[in-house]
Amino acid sequence: MLPARKVIIDTDPGVDDAIAILMALADPSLDLLGLTTVGGNVSLAQATRNALALLEYAGEYAGASRIPVVKGASRPRRGKFRYSHDFHGRTGLTRRLPRPSIRPAPQPAVDFLAAQLEQWPGQITLLALGPLTNLARLHRKHPSALDKLRSLVVMGGAVGVPGNVTPHAEFNFYSDPVAAQEVLATGVPMTLVDLSACRQISIARDELPDADGQGPLGRLTLELLRGWFDTDPTRQRFEFYDPLTLAAFIDPAILAVRPVTLEVECRDADGWGESRVIAEGGPVSVVDAAAAPKFYALLDQLLGITPGRR
Ligand code: BDR
Ligand code: CA
Repeated sequence: MLPARKVIIDTDPGVDDAIAILMALADPSLDLLGLTTVGGNVSLAQATRNALALLEYAGEYAGASRIPVVKGASRPRRGKFRYSHDFHGRTGLTRRLPRPSIRPAPQPAVDFLAAQLEQWPGQITLLALGPLTNLARLHRKHPSALDKLRSLVVMGGAVGVPGNVTPHAEFNFYSDPVAAQEVLATGVPMTLVDLSACRQISIARDELPDADGQGPLGRLTLELLRGWFDTDPTRQRFEFYDPLTLAAFIDPAILAVRPVTLEVECRDADGWGESRVIAEGGPVSVVDAAAAPKFYALLDQLLGITPGRR
């Protein structure tokens, strides 16, 4: 058997972050070294609490309650985060979870990340599912840390498609465009799972299967999805932003990519967070196509969830 692949998830849970975390916990081929949290969808305190609550819920699955949760940035490089309560609900999760009894690790996220990369050089994949504030801070405080990654997979940006916050900006890049640009400017190779990719993978309200035969992680996923649809009866489709990012790491064949050089526009206007390809060829693999059947096969394998028209 191949050794488990080491991964750290930087996250602001968030309904879709939560589903990505549950998928990671369900995959025995992954060694989840920790969750680092960042403000974004909700405050840093709430994101951290949600991360802890999810791990406590998952309990002994993959030793979940022993996986460290480490607090990162509560503010972006400039200004404040504008939380996404309308989309993710007041607490960020659309299903109530008990108050966690486990506590976050004591050190700051950047020091945790630097120490893990020092311990496992060339072996860790970092999945960035929220604003890139923690990664930009890591690079400033520990300039050689990102070079020790095995790979970096980022959910963010809207490349050549409309944004989901402004006409051009996607939420994670909009939330901290300065950090996004700083991380891109490092030239560290990354796979960027942007909105054009994520919009190819979504589930309709009437495709949600019944809770039937799933384990606890699959059941919680269905409850989160159902809760998300129930929050607003006009919602038609849930797009799997962060779960696709996790899935693309587990099975890179899910995405067809092309290399580009990308920049994030950080103007003081509504164009904040606009992502632009400035050259073909470069360190960023952007997605040309995402294979829905492969994604759903993985979702079924990990969580026992297959969409079906009812
Ligand atoms: C991204 O923003 C958040 O709302 C989601 O969790 C995802 O990471 C999509 O734009
Ligand atoms: Ca997220």
